[in-house]
Amino acid sequence: MVSVGIIGGTGYTGSELLRFLVNHPKFDVEFATSRSEEGVEIGEYIPSLRGLVDDEFVSPDSSLDADLVFTAVPHTKAMNYVPSFLERGIKVVDLSADYRLPFGVYEEVYEVEHCDVGRKAVYGLTELHRREIKKADLVANPGCYPTGAIFSAYPIKDDVDRILFDSKSGISGAGAKPSSASHFPNLDGNLNPYKVTTHRHQAEMKMVLGGEVHFTPHVIPVVRGIMTTTHVFGCDVDDVKGRYEEFYSGCRFIRVYDDVPKLSSVRGSNYVDIGCFSQEEGRVVIVSAIDNLVKGAAGQAIQNANVMMGLPEDLGLKAIPLSP
Ligand SMILES: NC(=O)c1ccc[n+]([C@@H]2O[C@H](COP(=O)([O-])OP(=O)(O)OC[C@H]3O[C@@H](n4cnc5c(N)ncnc54)[C@H](OP(=O)(O)O)[C@@H]3O)[C@@H](O)[C@H]2O)c1
Repeated sequence: MVSVGIIGGTGYTGSELLRFLVNHPKFDVEFATSRSEEGVEIGEYIPSLRGLVDDEFVSPDSSLDADLVFTAVPHTKAMNYVPSFLERGIKVVDLSADYRLPFGVYEEVYEVEHCDVGRKAVYGLTELHRREIKKADLVANPGCYPTGAIFSAYPIKDDVDRILFDSKSGISGAGAKPSSASHFPNLDGNLNPYKVTTHRHQAEMKMVLGGEVHFTPHVIPVVRGIMTTTHVFGCDVDDVKGRYEEFYSGCRFIRVYDDVPKLSSVRGSNYVDIGCFSQEEGRVVIVSAIDNLVKGAAGQAIQNANVMMGLPEDLGLKAIPLSP
């Protein structure tokens, strides 16, 4: 068995890691941390895990050991934990943004100084970077928006002039801490665009796709899921859908089809559904759907950890989407 730990076990992505890890046949949860809930039984704090996990949350400052650790904490916090694990030979999958971008770009985009400059991480969109992930000690798990967006454009990225991602996200993307944006009366019945030209995830999309990339996010009144409507301009490809089918053939979690995907077709699962492929003069529209907490976070993190440990990629991730 491989022992794994979670820094940030009470958060939305930390809880989601626990949900999948309790059923993982090769990963054994050694610890999950929380500063605010230290000493509280995990199943008491996360009622859906009652009777399934006996352990208590431990302090992230206690002595922690495992073969692999998931850091599921806010950006600027992960970089304080990652070095000490790596120095002790413990592999890390970081779910935060701290190691996703080149350091200079990170500091510019996130407007903070990085305290671990020079550390090398592999950016981990599993289906695109498997070979590098296999040899990595540190994988930077991609952001939720970039995951849905990049997969929706990658197979034709070199044949287009310009890409525009229009994404709609469920509110769990903002984490467990309530805010005015997540307050029910502000969200229910609304569709809220935000950071319409300035969202930080655009930098990740540009890093992977190159070229001219634009991105506008919206929050919608659902708990989970991200739908991305991708407009590609100047597309020079005859059979766009055929290109996607070929590119993603053999990718267990990527489903390509004609229809427009639905959030309910991926909710609770590690799938990326890609469809639509509607074409007019100079423009193709492609739509993708993911669960932000699974393929957009915890699921992809476990997929990457499987690859890092030489295990089958889909181990522990066979959950079927929750529909309706
Ligand atoms: N939510 C998503 O859909 C999503 C998707 C992809 C990536 N991410 C990224 O994944 C990370 C976690 O996101 P989340 O949504 O799970 O956040 P969250 O719900 O706000 O949870 C944050 C967790 O980190 C812990 N924490 C906060 N500050 C800490 C510190 N200084 N030291 C140690 N632990 C600390 C919190 O517990 P205590 O305060 O009790 O210690 C909590 O368990 C973020 O970097 C986020 O950007 C999130």
